[in-house]
Formats: sequence, structure tokens, C-alpha cells
Amino acid sequence: MKFENLLIETVEGIAVVTVNRPQALNALNQQTLVELQGAFADLSNNEAVQVIILTGSGEKAFVAGADIAAMQPLSALDARQFAKLGHEVMGAIEKSPKPVIAAVNGFALGGGCELALACDIRLASEKARFGQPEVNLGVIPGFGGTQRLARLVGKGVALELLLTGDLIDAAEAYRIGLVNKVVPQAELLEAAKKMAARILSKGPCAVKLAKEAVRNGLEMDLDKANQYEADLFGLCFASSDQKEGMQAFLEKRTPRFQGN
Ligand code: CAA
Repeated sequence: MKFENLLIETVEGIAVVTVNRPQALNALNQQTLVELQGAFADLSNNEAVQVIILTGSGEKAFVAGADIAAMQPLSALDARQFAKLGHEVMGAIEKSPKPVIAAVNGFALGGGCELALACDIRLASEKARFGQPEVNLGVIPGFGGTQRLARLVGKGVALELLLTGDLIDAAEAYRIGLVNKVVPQAELLEAAKKMAARILSKGPCAVKLAKEAVRNGLEMDLDKANQYEADLFGLCFASSDQKEGMQAFLEKRTPRFQGN
């Protein structure tokens, strides 16, 4: 697939996907959403890619939201369709078998905050700002923000952000658990790549199943989720990674994982 609004570069198993519409602070229009959908389908099936980093071009914005100019004239049915497309994209990121790290380099607002929320891990630069300012525009979040934000930071804090539309800085985002780590702007991509490389050195089957266990288990009651975890734990023992990982420990050497 050819991309007009995305840059994708893969080096040593790590794909960096950059949303590239700097003239609109990387806002998500229909085409960019379709491109993200295609990119994540490709990358998820590409054996040469093991970890994905998602970021925005330039120093100002990660993604400043869904594209307001494109949304303004939409009918109710078209807006519902647009939100459904957004949900499909966020779902594709969340369900990707590859870990996805958001490297949030500036404004992550509205659909941009929702995009970061769909990723597995969020690293922020000191310049990042987060918010769900949709109420300023007379709408609510449409790409999962009401749900994923509340699940991540809790109902009360999420409702404060959703109802006031207030923006928060990276330090506050870290304090409320919206981001995992804050680093200087110049070090952001390197920090994301370092974390990706650490994940890459682990057993690939286990990494994939750990993501699956958390994602699906959180939607179940605790008994069912623990049963599910036990099933996936058992499944690990069908992999050569498990034999190699435990053998390497016993032989006091570094494991050589095959990812099967
Ligand atoms: N959609 C379309 N264009 C956008 C945009 C967006 N979400 N955000 C910024 N832009 C455009 C601006 O219109 C401007 O374009 P022009 O130069 O052609 O005028 C350009 O990007 C630069 O933006 P500003 O001049 O506004 O830059 P600033 O530094 O003064 O302000 C900002 C930065 C605070 C991020 C401000 O741009 C802003 O508030 N943007 C909108 C944020 C927002 O409300 N996001 C939520 C969108 S709704 C949504 O996302 C719904 C959903 O969940 C699906």
C-alpha cells in the first residue's frame, strides 16, 4: 500500500510509523485513518517487524485530533461512519499481535489522545500535551476516548478531562497514569527504540501472548480471566521459546529465541 500521510521505516525489527500531515498538526482525516488501517494490517502480518512505534511528524504535535475541517459538514450518518472507521483503526492497533509504543512528541488531543490510548505503552516528551477537548466543539470523543481513557486512568479523572476539555502537560499525564514515562524531546524516539529493542530481545511467543492475556482478560471477570491466563500459560509450553528460555536459564546463558 502507498501512503501519502504516513512515513514508515523499519530497521532491525522495529517499525516507526509517523503520521505526517504537519500542515494540520497531523490531524486524522478519512484518508489518514484508512492509511493507518492498511499500515497496521501490513505490519501486523510482516514477520520482519516485531515492535511498532507510532509518532507524529515535527516537534509540535503527535496528532491534534480528528480533522475538524473535514468533520464540520458531516451528516449524522456520515459522522457515525467516520467514528466507526476510527474505532476500526484503534481496534487494529490494540489487537495487533505486535507491541505498539506511542512516542508522543507534542499535542495528543481528541482523536490523537485516543490514538495514543489504543497503543500498548505511551512514552511522552516533556513537550507533550494531552486532552479530550471535544466538548469545546459540541461533540464527544468518537474514537474510543470515553471508554479507553476511563479504563486507563479511572472514571473520576477521565470524566474531569472529558467534561472540562482541559489540556494537561506530560508531568500531569504521568501522575495520572496516562503515560508510562516522560523524557526530553530530543531523546523521545531513542527512548522508544530502546524500549522496543528490550522487548525484541524477549521470547516473541510470550510477548504476543502477554499482550493478548491483558487485552482480552481485562474484559472478563477475574475467574474467567485467570482461567484464560492459565490456558495461555499452557500454550507457551507448546513453543520452542519456552524450552529454549528455560534451558538457557539452567545453563546460565543468553537464550536464542526462534519465535515459535
Ligand atoms: N483538525 C484540523 N486542523 C487542525 C486541527 C484539527 N484537529 N488541529 C490543528 N489544525 C490546523 C489548524 O487549523 C491550523 O491550520 P491553518 O494553519 O491552515 O490555519 C494548523 O493546524 C496549526 O494549528 P493552530 O494555528 O491552531 O496552532 P496553535 O499552536 O495556535 O494551536 C492547538 C495548537 C492548541 C493544538 C490547536 O490547533 C487546536 O486546538 N487544535 C484542535 C484540537 C482539537 O480540538 N482536537 C479534537 C478534535 S475533535 C476529535 O478528535 C473528535 C474525535 O474524537 C473523533
